[in-house]
Amino acid sequence: MKSKNLVRLLLIVLLISGSMARAQKIDPFHYQQQKKVICTKGAVSSANALASKVGVNILKKGGNAIDAAIATQLALAVVYPGAGNIGGGGFMIAHLKNGKNISIDFRETAPSQSNRDMYLDKKGNPQMNLSQDGHLASGIPGSVAGIFSAMKYALLPFRTLIQPAIELAEKGFSISANQAHDFNELKNEFIQLNTSPTAFVKTTPWKAGDTLIQKDLANTLKIIRDKGVKGFYEGVTANLIIAEMAKGKGIITGDDLKKYTAKERTAIEFDYKSHHIISMPLPSSGGIILQQVLKMIEQKNIGEMKFQSAASVQLLTEAERRAFADRAQYLGDGDFVKVPVKALISENYLKERMKDYRPGIAGNSQSTQQGYIKESDETTHLSIIDAAGNAVAVTTTLNGSYGSRTVVGGAGFLLNNEMDDFSVKPGVPNMYGALGAEANAIYPGKRMLSSMAPTIVLKNNQPYLVVGTPGGTTIPTSIIQSLVNMIDFKMSPEDAVNLPKFHHQWLPDEIIVEKDFNAATIQQLEAMGYKVVKKEAIGRTELIEIKYDKTRKITAIADKRGDDSAEGY
Ligand code: GLY
Repeated sequence: MKSKNLVRLLLIVLLISGSMARAQKIDPFHYQQQKKVICTKGAVSSANALASKVGVNILKKGGNAIDAAIATQLALAVVYPGAGNIGGGGFMIAHLKNGKNISIDFRETAPSQSNRDMYLDKKGNPQMNLSQDGHLASGIPGSVAGIFSAMKYALLPFRTLIQPAIELAEKGFSISANQAHDFNELKNEFIQLNTSPTAFVKTTPWKAGDTLIQKDLANTLKIIRDKGVKGFYEGVTANLIIAEMAKGKGIITGDDLKKYTAKERTAIEFDYKSHHIISMPLPSSGGIILQQVLKMIEQKNIGEMKFQSAASVQLLTEAERRAFADRAQYLGDGDFVKVPVKALISENYLKERMKDYRPGIAGNSQSTQQGYIKESDETTHLSIIDAAGNAVAVTTTLNGSYGSRTVVGGAGFLLNNEMDDFSVKPGVPNMYGALGAEANAIYPGKRMLSSMAPTIVLKNNQPYLVVGTPGGTTIPTSIIQSLVNMIDFKMSPEDAVNLPKFHHQWLPDEIIVEKDFNAATIQQLEAMGYKVVKKEAIGRTELIEIKYDKTRKITAIADKRGDDSAEGY
């Protein structure tokens, strides 16, 4: 009897370990990017190869997609300091295998001592350096609270999830050519905007392959490992943030940190041509813009117009113009201002909105109500699917590249400059010629409007696409194009991500196209009356497609535009 039980136990252990794959040893000094991975069990696509490897190892150790998202996000805070963070904020969308959809808002909040005119000088002129650079630019960070809010859906202990990030910070990793370029270019800002030396500055120029060690960050991560969420918002780390604020005229207080909470929201959900889309609600405009634009074009058969024909670009442009006009006028943190979300996404309203769309003739933003909010490009996204069918999309940000460029002295992490996502002066153009609206004015405790749109698409009630991107206001329009590319133009996931993208955001009244955009289409758009402007790159989309045949086929794509990398097994 005894030996029978032993055999049974052995069989169970063998079964469990058989269903787990062997975690791969990560060499942080020799690693390569993979732009495309085809696999059957699970996959992670993120802005950095080491972070994607960390995520897949967690899946292989028996973690689910939420575990992998937490570990990947923490690793990104170390290996991708330009946007990965613990000093910023973001949003998570998840679809669990039991059918539940989750939406976690860990957006930064305005400090209690903030006020709507805090970035205006005595004459009422905006001082954008204050909302973008240094201590005063930071909102209360939300990332660590977001991670702990997601922990209730995780399977593995938190210390297992944070350990790879601690090791990468403590022992270091080889930086990429892009990162070496960033550190060299920002050297003066890192010196000017900091009160203590930072890990990102050294006397000789950085080059690809150099090792970045972040000892202070490793210590902060260890405190969070041992003390949980309080390890960031109270005690040693909170005190270091408060001390840093005192040194640099910042206004974040201990009470602000203690009071910060991540919030579970009800996701935006809608159908588009037999696909069920799940995305982020307010305080991000992302999901609302996705729904408005896709519903405005749904009846117009964009598939027949062909990819990047002047007709299909015009249709999307006109829908984007209308959605972004609404964004500027109506959207802000729904916990502080009344936002008519139901009206904005109602089918009748959106049908009415497209009544004056004229194929072949450029629309015009002058005749529409004004308002435009400038956002920066530097955000990051990760997409994950696990073997059980849980899917997670997380977009997180410091706002600008390397946020406020201010590192908390002794704690080793960069603070965000997310306050600039508020309307610095509602109704008046800022220094970029941008207009903001009352709904997004600064108010203590309020969350600044975002464009981030982590998105999951279900087909026949199963995860089909997990997608997201950085790119400020180009986030929703990049995601819309990836979806239309796949659903309407029947493209491969690789092409859907990598082919040239374009963007229109109402004001300025111009179509922004990537540098390799079709020249003949540009000519035709100009003939219709559009102003077309070229930009180096739009977005860095991480997309996972899951196809269900006899076996499940996962295709994970990492955008060609950066150091992005996909892993799977
Ligand atoms: N800071 C970029 C965004 O939240 O949209």
